[in-house]
Amino acid sequence: MKYSGILSTIWLITVSLCVELDLDDLDSVCEAASSVVWGELNYYEGFKYGGTVGMFSTPYYWWHAGEAFGGLVDYYAFCQKGNDTFEKFLIDGMFHQAGEDYNYIPSNQSLTEGNDDQGVWGMAIMEAAERNISQPSKDHSWISLTQAVYNTMNARWDDAHCGGGLRWQIFTWNSGYDYKNTISNGLLFHLAARLARYLDNETYVETAERVWNWMHDVGFYNRDGDDLTIFDGAKIGDNCSDVTTLKWSYSYGVFLSGCAYLYNYTEDATWKERALEIIHVAQNYFVASGYMSEATCAPSNRCNNDQRSFRSLYSRCLGVTTVLIPETKEVLNDYLTKSAEGAAQSCSGGSDGVTCGEDWSYSGWDGVYGLGEQMSALEVILANVQTEFSAPLSVQSGGNNASDSEAGLNTQDHTNTKQLDITSKDKAGAGVLTAVVLAIILGGSIWMIL
Ligand SMILES: *[C@@H]1O[C@H](CO)[C@@H](O)[C@H](O)[C@H]1NC(C)=O
Ligand SMILES: *[C@@H]1O[C@H](CO)[C@@H](O)[C@H](O)[C@H]1NC(C)=O
Ligand SMILES: *[C@@H]1O[C@H](CO)[C@@H](O)[C@H](O)[C@H]1NC(C)=O
Ligand SMILES: *[C@@H]1O[C@H](CO)[C@@H](O)[C@H](O)[C@H]1NC(C)=O
Ligand SMILES: *[C@@H]1O[C@H](CO)[C@@H](O)[C@H](O)[C@H]1NC(C)=O
Ligand SMILES: *[C@@H]1O[C@H](CO)[C@@H](O)[C@H](O)[C@H]1NC(C)=O
Ligand SMILES: *[C@@H]1O[C@H](CO)[C@@H](O)[C@H](O)[C@H]1NC(C)=O
Repeated sequence: MKYSGILSTIWLITVSLCVELDLDDLDSVCEAASSVVWGELNYYEGFKYGGTVGMFSTPYYWWHAGEAFGGLVDYYAFCQKGNDTFEKFLIDGMFHQAGEDYNYIPSNQSLTEGNDDQGVWGMAIMEAAERNISQPSKDHSWISLTQAVYNTMNARWDDAHCGGGLRWQIFTWNSGYDYKNTISNGLLFHLAARLARYLDNETYVETAERVWNWMHDVGFYNRDGDDLTIFDGAKIGDNCSDVTTLKWSYSYGVFLSGCAYLYNYTEDATWKERALEIIHVAQNYFVASGYMSEATCAPSNRCNNDQRSFRSLYSRCLGVTTVLIPETKEVLNDYLTKSAEGAAQSCSGGSDGVTCGEDWSYSGWDGVYGLGEQMSALEVILANVQTEFSAPLSVQSGGNNASDSEAGLNTQDHTNTKQLDITSKDKAGAGVLTAVVLAIILGGSIWMIL
């Protein structure tokens, strides 16, 4: 959806009038971030009459809400600290979606939720723990909720196919159940790394190592010199031997920052080397004219709603990496500052004047809009304000210690076979939806090959 050149020119003038981003000045950063957040919350259902708390408007899925809340927690920590109204909005939204069993598998999302969706919510609530957001209830802390996500995901580890790994889907009826994907496994790795550091518990390091080694055995990443290239996944039918080699920024993000948490916690130099190898590929691939770009689909304008949001998680992960491995700050500095400046100047569109665009190298707003554009702009801006003073908390540095290593394990949701009372019509609907998404991904990749 591109507007005409004349409109773009008008937007360009608006930009120079209203967006001044000085990344060295926190007030300036927060001013830019706050207008982006304002645009983002236009999509929030929870403020609307009869809307569901914790959800964003269609066509955005449940997982997008988890993605959004993670960034909003950071926005709170950097720009709204002490604003009880804002904190309450975060707590209500995130806790409302915890589901009946407090494991982020709400039964009414069982036609859409995969391991990756649950894991992205896990990132948000772990962020809440690490940023000292007030606890949601006396029985549940953010850290115990994260453990429930971790435990239920980890229990789905499937040795029966491809030598291990998580499948994409949790539920048998969703298509993609026969696919093992990198992002689901990456999120298990990522959450394990964060829990290890937060709780000072080596057992989680062992899980992270198991995932990392399996990813290698199955060929989901490839190592060549200083490069570590991460691919999308494979079907279990032929024992995961036919790897889909598409590259997505958020997969790089969750593995990279997972390595950074592990390095920061264990001080084992191997994790730092791995982090640097991932950065080497990431910042040379996810880039266009020096600005961060979802390179697998953006140049051909083929990114779907999901893909248009990936840079938000990617940016969040890059930001925290610069804190956990301080020497990566310099390596990532130009990439992050240029991208943030490009993103900020793109946030000048739409009828509200705070709508962000997709192409950050474009002067002004490029006419593309959505929740993904808002989230990505917000997080790349915030990735630049991280310092050692904003290092994620751990119990040792004062984080809440109400952990529960058994959380989630008493429920049935961690099995792959939980039967819910849904009609076959619903099942068919879910299948068609996933098929459409797959068709778009595959269509996109075929187009790229041509
Ligand atoms: C606190 O957050 C609310 C939104 O939840 C916002 O309306 C208000 O302006 C914020 N207060 C300050 C002082 O920024
Ligand atoms: C789904 O379930 C949650 C509770 O887990 C509830 O708050 C929400 O209203 C339900 N509906 C939707 C559309 O999320
Ligand atoms: C399936 O793949 C896994 C991981 O690469 C490997 O360890 C296992 O030996 C393979 N099994 C068969 C039957 O080829
Ligand atoms: C871990 O992160 C903290 C906070 O940024 C930093 O001061 C410390 O040097 C890091 N540890 C290592 C081993 O790099
Ligand atoms: C976390 O927040 C509480 C108030 O809710 C405060 O008392 C405590 O000092 C904070 N801890 C850290 C480490 O910032
Ligand atoms: C957990 O934190 C509370 C409050 O900060 C403290 O009183 C308690 O001793 C801690 N428990 C453990 C096991 O560290
Ligand atoms: C460490 O975590 C594991 C896995 O959740 C748990 O079984 C174990 O009890 C924990 N160890 C400690 C000392 O808390």
